[in-house]
Amino acid sequence: MTRRKVFKFLGYFLLTGLGSTGLLCASRLLPRPPKKIVVKEDQLQKKKLFVIGEVFLVRQKERWLALSRRCPHLGCLVGFDNRKEEFVCPCHQSRFDLSGRYLAGPAKKDLLTLKIKKIEGGWLLEIPG
Ligand code: FES
Repeated sequence: MTRRKVFKFLGYFLLTGLGSTGLLCASRLLPRPPKKIVVKEDQLQKKKLFVIGEVFLVRQKERWLALSRRCPHLGCLVGFDNRKEEFVCPCHQSRFDLSGRYLAGPAKKDLLTLKIKKIEGGWLLEIPG
């Protein structure tokens, strides 16, 4: 194998590697479609608060409010304090009321409200990608 062929091979190898790395990075920068979850009405029963993975569903009369459980401070998963009826972040104790409004702590922002709409037999929840 001549030196010219070796450099040509290395050049193609490098270009292929850089190209695929670039495509991978670009694909992560593109917005992903929202994840859609159907919650059936009978799953919700008479509960006031329902947890689906990283989402809180809070009953509000005939509707549900969907809130992200990701804390707006550093992204920890927020829990619920039954005694005070507040959402509490276990990392730095930020607190939020039942509508996701910021009450105290370092978060300084409300919990993210997610899209939810009534469909036949349940609710369609959209979680941003
Ligand atoms: S991550 Fe929630 S208060 Fe810091």
